[in-house]
Amino acid sequence: MATAPQHLPTPTLSLRAMREDDLPGVAAAERDSYAFPWSEGVFRDCLRAGYICRVAEIDHRLVGYGILSVGAGEAHILNVCVRAEYRCRGLGRRLVTGMFDLGRAYGASDLFLEVRPSNATAIRLYQSLGLAQVGLRRGYYQAADGREDAIVMRLRLAP
Ligand SMILES: CC(C)(COP(=O)(O)OP(=O)(O)OC[C@H]1O[C@@H](n2cnc3c(N)ncnc32)[C@H](O)[C@@H]1OP(=O)(O)O)[C@@H](O)C(=O)NCCC(=O)NCCS
Repeated sequence: MATAPQHLPTPTLSLRAMREDDLPGVAAAERDSYAFPWSEGVFRDCLRAGYICRVAEIDHRLVGYGILSVGAGEAHILNVCVRAEYRCRGLGRRLVTGMFDLGRAYGASDLFLEVRPSNATAIRLYQSLGLAQVGLRRGYYQAADGREDAIVMRLRLAP
């Protein structure tokens, strides 16, 4: 007799405050994910500056992280990343929407981020979440052959 397919439960992604002892793991994931990664020291500076720094975990394993700054009613996603082996299963979407929730909780009415035009995956994700391009910063990023522009995207958080 055929048995019903067994569906594994979707893993629960939890966001918690980043700590100093997370930094080596975060920096290792960063190096694996970006051609021009932030150093561990940059993440330490974000913690010390009081930015909203979160690690995303599944069963206490670090699967990603996000850094948000909020001021003057504006939230800015400074970094968001899912470790390569955990991508394409909806975790990035949940991490980014978690950053939206944090922005709202900290009183922001608008959220901004920058993304490389070459980062089609991230742009598609952001567009599907309602972010739209509002500007372009020329030569904003370091690139292998010089500089790369940044697309500036915005989402209205407040109704
Ligand atoms: C961008 C990033 C966070 C997405 O994380 P993720 O866990 O793979 O994202 P999700 O699985 O939630 O995918 C969300 C959407 O992204 C897009 N996407 C994800 N993987 C993709 C792929 N391999 N190809 C094309 N689109 C893809 C899809 O639009 C997807 O929507 P869907 O769920 O309706 O299919 C991840 O690729 C990453 O960490 N990249 C390296 C760091 C980085 O570039 N950060 C962004 C800097 S601005």
